[in-house]
Amino acid sequence: MAVEFGTNRGLQAQVGIYTTGNRAPDDVGSAWPDERWPVSPDDWRARAREALDEGPWGYLEGGAGGEETMCANRDAFYRWRLRPRVLRDVSARDISIELLDKRFPAPFLLAPVGVQEIVHPQADLAAARAAAARGIPFVSSTVSSVPLEGIAAAMGEGPRWFQLYPARSREVIASMLRRAQSAGYEALVVTLDTTMLGWRERDLRQGYLPFLEGKGLANYFADPAFRALLGRPPQEDPRAAVETFLSVYVNPGFTWEDLAFCRELWHGPLWLKGITHPDDAIAALDHGADGVIVSNHGGRQLDGAVAALDALPAVATAVAGRVPLLLDGGVRRGADVLKALALGASAVLIGRLYLYGLAAAGEAGVGRVIDNLMADIDLTLGLCGRRSIQEVGRDLVTADGATG
Ligand SMILES: Cc1cc2nc3c(=O)[nH]c(=O)nc-3n(C[C@H](O)[C@H](O)[C@H](O)COP(=O)(O)O)c2cc1C
Repeated sequence: MAVEFGTNRGLQAQVGIYTTGNRAPDDVGSAWPDERWPVSPDDWRARAREALDEGPWGYLEGGAGGEETMCANRDAFYRWRLRPRVLRDVSARDISIELLDKRFPAPFLLAPVGVQEIVHPQADLAAARAAAARGIPFVSSTVSSVPLEGIAAAMGEGPRWFQLYPARSREVIASMLRRAQSAGYEALVVTLDTTMLGWRERDLRQGYLPFLEGKGLANYFADPAFRALLGRPPQEDPRAAVETFLSVYVNPGFTWEDLAFCRELWHGPLWLKGITHPDDAIAALDHGADGVIVSNHGGRQLDGAVAALDALPAVATAVAGRVPLLLDGGVRRGADVLKALALGASAVLIGRLYLYGLAAAGEAGVGRVIDNLMADIDLTLGLCGRRSIQEVGRDLVTADGATG
């Protein structure tokens, strides 16, 4: 009997995997012991670990301090349970979402992740291409390994957002925003939780900071306003260029008033990333944000900070639907995505998960991670007794498994 796929993406992916024996393509699989694709996030993580030296691995995997917040991000998901409903005809399902009047195929985006060249030579280009091929938005980091124009060119019509670390120089901020707008970035994400670099013990132990090797600086070295700060071009005096970067790239003096400058210059949607306190979410709205990203930077900045998922309900209550919310931190599987949506997010971002795919198998690896997550979301949605993301509400979850 022929299998009826319909709009059933999850079943399609499952059947594809079962019928091919989960064989990885020759070019990536031949380097692996059993020549099969990883499936679970832990398998991807293990492949990434094998592919990377200690320095890059610690940078990718680690968090700040004792990594309590990084672990708390995951733990928070375990404390919520899904409450499925049954017999509701879930044969046709739709996992697409609408975000600020744009339609996207799934409720997740690729989070901004800098310095991708330390995990794969094709870096952002590989990840951005994999996202573009599937219509998944790619959020390009300020500290990308390829200039933002090159990433845009690799993505064609693929949806792309630009993430900004507010620099100490307004000229550099203005110049980067101009460049991002002319390269077709649709939305701006300003990251607020990185006014200085967190105390990252794994990196400190290794004495490893990729910026010092000139990595992740492509946007700065290509930027006319940044270059104007240098005595000589970066290729002639790389050391001075790195030092100048270190002196401008983050700004502990940045305030809500300074944010108005970004708001004025950016003519599209503005998202503020790194908010966990409801009062900051309200301030974000007051300062013209179109959306809020509830995030603690994957636990890489302030150790001991509240888990992202734990912060979400209070932020959702404060914002009361006036702007959409996104969440990141610890998202690994379809069930995590649905829990975040139930607690008030319109979509989530994935960070380390797609980097594991990139480290293990480049563009194909990121593509596979995305495809599997989409399939997992689709099946989980149906098993919850929901046909679309719009049908996901607070009643889908219960805290600590309590059902009384
Ligand atoms: C290696 C690495 C680099 C990152 N670089 C950036 C960055 O350049 N800009 C930014 O806003 N967030 C950055 N983040 C944070 C991610 O955008 C996101 O908040 C985090 O990875 C989510 O947690 P998860 O990795 O558990 O999914 C980075 C995260 C990692 C793991």
